[in-house]
Amino acid sequence: MTETLIEQHLKVLSLHRISETYKEEADKAAKAKLGYQDYLQRLLEIEVINKIERSINRKMQIAGFPQVKRLEEFDFSYQPKINEKLIRELAGLNFMEEAKNILFVGAPGVGKTHLAISLGVKAVQARKRVMFFTAEQLTVMLAGAEVSGNLNRTLGNLSKVDLIIIDELGYLSLTKQTAKLFFQLISKRYEMGSIIITSNKPFEEWGEIFNDDIVASAILDRLLHHSYPFLINGKSFRLKDISKNN
Ligand SMILES: Nc1ncnc2c1ncn2[C@@H]1O[C@H](COP(=O)(O)OP(=O)(O)OP(=O)(O)O)[C@@H](O)[C@H]1O
Ligand SMILES: [Mg+2]
Repeated sequence: MTETLIEQHLKVLSLHRISETYKEEADKAAKAKLGYQDYLQRLLEIEVINKIERSINRKMQIAGFPQVKRLEEFDFSYQPKINEKLIRELAGLNFMEEAKNILFVGAPGVGKTHLAISLGVKAVQARKRVMFFTAEQLTVMLAGAEVSGNLNRTLGNLSKVDLIIIDELGYLSLTKQTAKLFFQLISKRYEMGSIIITSNKPFEEWGEIFNDDIVASAILDRLLHHSYPFLINGKSFRLKDISKNN
């Protein structure tokens, strides 16, 4: 089919969604006896909604969540020690305006990663730039950047991200050198941008993670200064069905 002049103009303006729908919408508008302005408004709405959806999808890709988890799927009755009201408040994302951090600490399977991702998804839906890393991915990236002489650029790029999620801190220990790189990141984001961290290790044991008590306490000091720590000491959700069958 040959392109109409309208379609050519829409292409130049990158209004692709309008191009796909304007004819169908014109028929609908005629049937509903919509005025010219209402028709134009409808087309612009369609384009705006599409642009927002595309931007959110792009941001979801960039965020790199290992799976998509939603707060709506989290069963708070299974983990009654978690302050549900506070989590719901945090989902309003004010903590990001104030560059506050969130720490989820607890045993395997209590929902730390689920909660961290669901808050990250909320942030993406609000069109914030989010990046998810495991602690291991992050340290490998920082160590690689240092070796190639790009550490400052990498830290600079990470400081532009609105929310960084660091998952599974504590499952692997860091070397003294990577602990220092980790410290640099925390220090750079301190009071500038939010971090969500999940860890299986209580704060007293963070010296072991970083192989250095002094660096660990400097990291903790900054992370905790403006923060919402959640110590989750409930049962593993992964064992939910097993315990039901017994
Ligand atoms: N309260 C809950 N309601 C619904 N699903 C949950 C809940 N808690 C955990 N889950 C689900 O159980 C699985 C394990 O949870 P999650 O990965 O968040 O655990 P974790 O605390 O990060 O554990 P680990 O320390 O082993 O990484 C996930 O599939 C998660 O979606
Ligand atoms: Mg986890």
